Parts: sequence; C-alpha cells; structure tokens
Amino acid sequence: MSEDLEKSAAYRTKTSFGFAEVGLDAKQSLVNQVFAKVAPRYDLMNDLMSGGLHRLWKAALLVWLAPPKSAVPYALLDVAGGTGDIAFRFLESAGKGASATVCDISAEMIEAGRARANGEGGRLSFVRGNAEALPFADKSFDAYTIAFGMRNLTLIDLGLAEAFRVLKPGGRFLCLEFSSVEMPLLDRLYDAYSFGAIPILGGLVAGDSASYRYLVESIRHFPDQNSFTQLIEDAGFGRVRYRNLTGGIAAIHSAWRL
Ligand SMILES: C[S@@+](CC[C@H](N)C(=O)[O-])C[C@H]1O[C@@H](n2cnc3c(N)ncnc32)[C@H](O)[C@@H]1O
Repeated sequence: MSEDLEKSAAYRTKTSFGFAEVGLDAKQSLVNQVFAKVAPRYDLMNDLMSGGLHRLWKAALLVWLAPPKSAVPYALLDVAGGTGDIAFRFLESAGKGASATVCDISAEMIEAGRARANGEGGRLSFVRGNAEALPFADKSFDAYTIAFGMRNLTLIDLGLAEAFRVLKPGGRFLCLEFSSVEMPLLDRLYDAYSFGAIPILGGLVAGDSASYRYLVESIRHFPDQNSFTQLIEDAGFGRVRYRNLTGGIAAIHSAWRL
C-alpha cells in the first residue's frame, strides 16, 4: 500500500454497510457474517434472484477477458471468488497453460467452492485472504478478476491498489459488479423487485432475509459506471472501459496495468 493511501485510509473512519453507516473496523466482520450465513445456499440463490442472468454476465466477462487458448502459462487471480464460478468458467475456456487462484475472505464460501472443485487438480487453488491486503507477491498474475465482490470491500481504493500491485505489467483487470440502471422504466421495476422480492426470497430459500437486504442495499452505495472508471484510473490503470449489461443492472469494467 502506498504512503498516500495509508494516510487517506487513516483519515476515514466510517463506511457503508448497506444503508447503515458503520465504523471501518466493523464492516468486514458484518460482511463476513453475511457470507458465512448464505454460503450453503449461495449458488442456488444467485440463480433464483437473477433468473439465471448472472450466468450470462459471467460468460460476458470471460468473453471480454479472452484468455489464451494455447499452452502458454497464464495465471488468473479471481478475488472475492466465493464458490469459484469465474475460475471454473475460466479453466473451461482457457488453454492448457492456464491456472486459477480463487481468493476469498470467507472460509465458508471457500469450503462451498472446494466442494465443487473435484477434478480440477493442480490448475485451481483456493486461498483465504483479504482483497485489501492480498497474500500474493507483486507482479505475479496475468489477470485479476472480481465479480460481485468489489462493493463488499471496506475501502475500494485499497482493493484497486492491491489489484494493480499483484498484476504483471501488461496484466488485465476485469470487475463485474452491480451498477446504475440507465433506463427510466427498468430502474423503477428493478428497485421494486430488489427491495420487495429479494429479501423475501432470501427468507424463504436461505432462511435469512436480513443478509439479502444488505446485498440489495450495498448495490445502491456502489459508485456508478463513470465514478468507478475514475477510481480505477486513480489506482494507476490505463485504457479503462466499461460495458453495461442488462441496461446497467450490472457492468463490467476492464483496465490494464500498462
Ligand atoms: C457476492 S459474493 C461473489 C462471489 C463470486 N465472485 C460470484 O460472483 O459468485 C462476494 C464475495 O466477496 C467475499 N468478500 C467480501 N469481502 C472480502 C474481502 N475483503 N476480501 C476478499 N473477499 C471478500 C465474500 O466472502 C463473498 O464470497
């Protein structure tokens, strides 16, 4: 972490946990409690909540990443990788030289991911770690992905600085995250659905409506497409672009460590 970032982190004392304001020290353990609870039903809930759309969005991320199909070594780090969705898709679409590391702070989410990982052998590993202080050497990965993880971080700029640090020069950054809906009618329908139906679904299927209320509220706090572009540029990345998915319900930001 640079001295400037360390200083600015020290000045900030509050952050958002959904719509609530909490101390910086409190957020991570609240987020961890959410994912410890939802882990056993996480994959099922993702399909139910998004009507399967998250699969198309993740496929779009892999298409944009376009990993090499050859046997050339290519190392992906999937941060906040949870149950491994991005890493599995990556290994399916990349060549024989590809390897994937899933890094997540939640032991329960990693456990659920490992249970799905039969047969991937040495190409896939799970590591417990914090996106804001990654347990990896500088310049060690060809690509960094993060899907629906960035908004859970306490300090997004520290997460971005870490992404930059662990990428090799020429390395690729891709972030898939819920974003700001840019279609007038869709935004109202989406609000009604997310605040009305999702906590109810969370209560019925996962026995936990509060965690799903947090997930919905945290989406509204995440910077919009252009503000997030600026944060990525501030972290030192170049050629930052984004693509909206489903009218901006989600967006993929792409950038390079040049
Ligand atoms: C919504 S899930 C996304 C999982 C997966 N990437 C996907 O798209 O299905 C968010 C994940 O972020 C993880 N997470 C939250 N805070 C984190 C942090 N500071 N560092 C690493 N992972 C974190 C949670 O444990 C959880 O697995």
